[in-house]
Amino acid sequence: MNIRVVKNNHPSQKPVADQSLSFGHIFTDHMFLMNYEEGRGWFDPRIVPFGDLSLSPAAMVLHYGQEMFEGMKAYPGKNGEAYLFRPDMNAKRSNSSCDRLCIPRIPEEDFVQAVEALVDVDRDWIPTAPGTSLYIRPFIFATDPFLGVAPSRTYLFCIIASPSGAYYQSGLAPVKIWIEDEYVRAVRGGMGYIKAGGNYAVSLIAQVKAHDDGYSQVLWLDGVERRYIEEVGAMNIFFKINGTVLTPMLNGSILPGITRDSVLHLCRQMGLPTEERRISVDELIAAAKDGSLEEIFGTGTAAVVSPVGHLRYKDEVLTVGNAQIGPLTQKLYDTLTGIQWGLRDDPFGWRVTVPHRFG
Ligand code: PLP
Ligand code: COI
Repeated sequence: MNIRVVKNNHPSQKPVADQSLSFGHIFTDHMFLMNYEEGRGWFDPRIVPFGDLSLSPAAMVLHYGQEMFEGMKAYPGKNGEAYLFRPDMNAKRSNSSCDRLCIPRIPEEDFVQAVEALVDVDRDWIPTAPGTSLYIRPFIFATDPFLGVAPSRTYLFCIIASPSGAYYQSGLAPVKIWIEDEYVRAVRGGMGYIKAGGNYAVSLIAQVKAHDDGYSQVLWLDGVERRYIEEVGAMNIFFKINGTVLTPMLNGSILPGITRDSVLHLCRQMGLPTEERRISVDELIAAAKDGSLEEIFGTGTAAVVSPVGHLRYKDEVLTVGNAQIGPLTQKLYDTLTGIQWGLRDDPFGWRVTVPHRFG
């Protein structure tokens, strides 16, 4: 893929204090764009100054939500390198999202090349304070000006990047999670297993309700029996019960998280027993009550490894591990971020150095 670059002649002021960065408010000087037209395929890959997009009010994405996105991060190395973490996994998952939404695929190597090129051009924007990173948001949406319900014939692939701090305002402090028993997020056969904007739109009502009660996020139950644990709004969920690390199996309605997969590898490498299976909310509450529930944490690109300190289900509030960060949660956070930042060995070959081409 031949990417042309139009440099931004009016660069923005970079954040001065990296350590006070919040999540997702500031954007770098450039963005990646590539168009698609039926019969022509993907064309004109380019990096241009970050700015507003122009779109017909009839663009199909605005009416029927044909849109998918990805979430990744770039991390700074000790000697000025920029690292990505398992970008091939995002490229693969992006195509699985495209398939489900009838969006044309992007070859995996082109997806990774586009992300690398934007990070290369904006490499000076990668923050260096602990806990910060350059959050990368690739997304594709339907642009055809047409009100019929059908797959669009034109699309835009866009990548933007945002120097960001911790996803939760509390940083690496235990979060409070609300187990939702009224609304559901996804069912098998739907699109819970992909990253589509619509999955997040449908979750807002429960998240607002949880926030109003002082909870950071919602833990979703399965959409049929409302009994089995699925995942949290922006992360997969793990439990340590009686020494075993448990996480819900990939059943078609939860996102196959890249951090989830990485944490499972790390736990197995540490010699811990792991199980991917159905976990009912009753099993969880029983474990909390009999003292066998040792730790709960969520995993995600934005959330990294986040300890969960409180769980609310109906009228019950459970406190997990005295609402402190558990030793396994801390160890996984340190190991994962150590690999991502180039501070530890990378036995699985997950860390990718962004080549210097444009930056
Ligand atoms: N589940 C949901 C609903 C998410 O939005 C995310 C975030 O991307 C995750 C899980 C974790 O996925 P990953 O580890 O690939 O970021
Ligand atoms: C990510 O972790 O990359 C996500 O996409 C979560 C997001 C919805 C903030």
